[in-house]
Amino acid sequence: MESLHWICIALFFGLCFGADPFANFELELSYITASPLGVPQQVIAVNGKFPGPVINVTTNYNVIINVKNNLDENILMTWSGIQMRRSSFQDGVLGTNCPIPPKWNWTYQFQAKDQIGSFFYFPSLNMQRASGGFGPFVITNRNIIPIPFSMPDGDIVIMIGDWYTRNHTVLRKALDGGKALGMPDGVLINGKGPYRYNNTFVPDGIDYETINVDPGKTYRIRVHNVGVSTCLNFRIQNHNLLLAETEGYYTSQQNYTSLDIHVGQSYSFLVTMDQNASSDYYIVASARFVNQSLWQRVTGVAVLHYSNSKGKAAGPLPDPPNDFYDTSYSLNQALSIRQNVSASGARPNPQGSFHYGSINVTDVYVLQSRPPTTIDGKLRASFNGISFVNPDTPIRLADIYKVKGAYKLDFPTKPLDRPPRMDRSIINATYKGFIEIILQNNDSVVQSFHMDGYSFFVVGYSLHVK
Ligand SMILES: *[C@@H]1O[C@H](CO)[C@@H](O)[C@H](O)[C@H]1NC(C)=O
Ligand SMILES: *[C@@H]1O[C@H](CO)[C@@H](O)[C@H](O)[C@H]1NC(C)=O
Ligand SMILES: *[C@@H]1O[C@H](CO)[C@@H](O)[C@H](O)[C@H]1NC(C)=O
Ligand SMILES: *[C@@H]1O[C@H](CO)[C@@H](O)[C@H](O)[C@H]1NC(C)=O
Ligand SMILES: *[C@@H]1O[C@H](CO)[C@@H](O)[C@H](O)[C@H]1NC(C)=O
Ligand SMILES: *[C@@H]1O[C@H](CO)[C@@H](O)[C@H](O)[C@H]1NC(C)=O
Ligand SMILES: *[C@@H]1O[C@H](CO)[C@@H](O)[C@H](O)[C@H]1NC(C)=O
Ligand SMILES: *[C@@H]1O[C@H](CO)[C@@H](O)[C@H](O)[C@H]1NC(C)=O
Ligand SMILES: *[C@@H]1O[C@H](CO)[C@@H](O)[C@H](O)[C@H]1NC(C)=O
Ligand SMILES: *[C@@H]1O[C@H](CO)[C@@H](O)[C@H](O)[C@H]1NC(C)=O
Ligand SMILES: *[C@@H]1O[C@H](CO)[C@@H](O)[C@H](O)[C@H]1NC(C)=O
Repeated sequence: MESLHWICIALFFGLCFGADPFANFELELSYITASPLGVPQQVIAVNGKFPGPVINVTTNYNVIINVKNNLDENILMTWSGIQMRRSSFQDGVLGTNCPIPPKWNWTYQFQAKDQIGSFFYFPSLNMQRASGGFGPFVITNRNIIPIPFSMPDGDIVIMIGDWYTRNHTVLRKALDGGKALGMPDGVLINGKGPYRYNNTFVPDGIDYETINVDPGKTYRIRVHNVGVSTCLNFRIQNHNLLLAETEGYYTSQQNYTSLDIHVGQSYSFLVTMDQNASSDYYIVASARFVNQSLWQRVTGVAVLHYSNSKGKAAGPLPDPPNDFYDTSYSLNQALSIRQNVSASGARPNPQGSFHYGSINVTDVYVLQSRPPTTIDGKLRASFNGISFVNPDTPIRLADIYKVKGAYKLDFPTKPLDRPPRMDRSIINATYKGFIEIILQNNDSVVQSFHMDGYSFFVVGYSLHVK
């Protein structure tokens, strides 16, 4: 969503880092063989681990990450939800960046300026995320900045996501051939398959995740949906999830017995270990808006183990919301999540006010998604009748080297009444302006939209009634 002007400014100021501390990381992507669902497959590991290691920095740190590509195809690494401010070139998405070829490395540099919260990194090309390559990215507050809750006794990351035993290359070929991916083979929790809560649904010999805790303590549990397309309902048996933060904003704290986490979303919960540990407890991530009896196998199950636990978890899983085919419960739940505007944390407009109503909106875009249609023989999704084609020359390079016609600044401001087409259309926004984007999902399935690299904040949303 960057404007041309903004991009040019980034060229001049992108590498001003100031006196803030530096933090260096090395991430090496390679294939390993793993069998999360009992079937051996090629998985993308980061530094030999699946999921990858935690990148944990403090607000305002200058982050330097050397990414090495030991795969057999191009990669780009993106830092989902982290505001790139003046360094869009560090964002790791095609269009602004050249890919990193096999055997090459590239060093990303950006500043976690004024940010806190829970994020994750993942490879953004070729559906590689379906094979792994992801890991958590935490921005911890500076000591002098208060947090709106007592210091938790521990900090735990849980990555949930749908999973296929076919690798990303095979999945990509299916899509390119116009075929849908079909039902996933399972849901992984921290790269591991389900605990054997039921012999019918879970085969023997699957390695599952165990989260170890002490009774009476309160943990910050950061949950990320790193999957391909499945909305997941997250819950911990007998435990309340006190929602405290989402993707860089502290929320008004509220308890949930379960929360729907859509693809790409990240949430922090404060969970108090206030149960009697008569047994271990289930941690569940189950598919939403599907027929549970058909999708029973597609359920992630991990174990919450108290240090004084008296036995294994047994019996049925805690119930999911009972509202098959009704999205209003989920939508109302999402609407109940509010930013705590009196807490510290990132500000959408650090210099200005929270009086959203008095912001002078410079551009308004209504972006309407449509179900995939066949364009030039391929199944393509579209926004406002445009299915984006990445320019041969990345936008930033085209700007630097004045390559004419690499892209077009003609993205329509609203849906057009014409058949969708493939194009290189880009939004022409105004430097220092406020752009209002209205996302309309006119697809037949629930969608989550990823707004990359810049400071977006939600103003409102609702169910679109036809
Ligand atoms: C993906 O799976 C296919 C079929 O099993 C296999 O031929 C191919 O080598 C795999 N690719 C990678 C990158 O693991
Ligand atoms: C590649 O990695 C080496 C050290 O591992 C580093 O010195 C070099 O700067 C990196 N190159 C790029 C383009 O990031
Ligand atoms: C919001 O943040 C303030 C400041 O830290 C805190 O005192 C208050 O309890 C928070 N409110 C809610 C509802 O979480
Ligand atoms: C991140 O670092 C902070 C200290 O800077 C630590 O308290 C916290 O446990 C770490 N979180 C994770 C998930 O590693
Ligand atoms: C496993 O699931 C099946 C089918 O729902 C059910 O009949 C059976 O009782 C379950 N087994 C256990 C041990 O819960
Ligand atoms: C959330 O639930 C816990 C019990 O698990 C309770 O102690 C706490 O007061 C509740 N907090 C809110 C804000 O409802
Ligand atoms: C522990 O808690 C469970 C669920 O609340 C309850 O059914 C059980 O009786 C309790 N066990 C003991 C030993 O207190
Ligand atoms: C879910 O699938 C089962 C098995 O095919 C079927 O019997 C049931 O009617 C379906 N439920 C709904 C709500 O469609
Ligand atoms: C919005 O524009 C009006 C008219 O140009 C101006 O008076 C006002 O200060 C602007 N508001 C903000 C928040 O910039
Ligand atoms: C982009 O917008 C600016 C300011 O509104 C305008 O001057 C410029 O002509 C536009 N560029 C194109 C290619 O439409
Ligand atoms: C959604 O798309 C269908 C065609 O797929 C169209 O008939 C309908 O009018 C669209 N709805 C809106 C709100 O644009």
